[in-house]
Amino acid sequence: MKFFVDTADVAAIAELNDLGMVDGVTTNPSLILKSGRNILEVTKEICDLVAGPVSAEVVALQADEMIAEGRKLAAIAPNIAVKVPLTWDGLKACKVLSGEGFMVNVTLCFSANQALLAAKAGATFISPFVGRLDDINLDGLDLIADIRTIYDNYDFDTQILAASIRTVNHIADCAKIGADVITAPPAVIKSMASHVLTDKGIDQFMKDWAKTGQKIL
Ligand code: G3P
Repeated sequence: MKFFVDTADVAAIAELNDLGMVDGVTTNPSLILKSGRNILEVTKEICDLVAGPVSAEVVALQADEMIAEGRKLAAIAPNIAVKVPLTWDGLKACKVLSGEGFMVNVTLCFSANQALLAAKAGATFISPFVGRLDDINLDGLDLIADIRTIYDNYDFDTQILAASIRTVNHIADCAKIGADVITAPPAVIKSMASHVLTDKGIDQFMKDWAKTGQKIL
């Protein structure tokens, strides 16, 4: 399973990238706002840092304007994936942009039928939002499983990019279901390393080591 980092924070991306944990990056208008940076500048910086796909989102709502914005974003670097919303216009833009050879990430997916349409429109990635479905008492992981079944039934190449990942359990569950990619905030990815029994074990080893009076270095 590939790990994308869901942020426009260049320092946080660089830290995880140095460890080989970054297969790609996803951004959206809210994350650009949070970064306080210009979208074209920060996206270029991220593309220079990371070898894998970097999703940059259009903000137009009409297909023609989405396509024009998508072309401008794709010109930033060869590893840009143009992100379009899962609307009828977004699907039109997906069809045109993917036909021109650009990677397209269709975002804000909340149903299996939406995912089916995105695959037929040539999406490189479909982004179902797990956490936001959980927020309204639906099961985001059920959607990932449904899309996996549907895409496998018909051999669609579109990759399932599980988004709105909020917890480490979401990540393990997406891996079990067979999501191709997860995108998560840096803090969630880093917290995958934490376990209370690891901390407890280290504490015990340190206490016992101190009693030996020895040093390694
Ligand atoms: O990739 C989409 C993601 O940023 C949405 O996450 O936590 O705002 O639902 P969230």
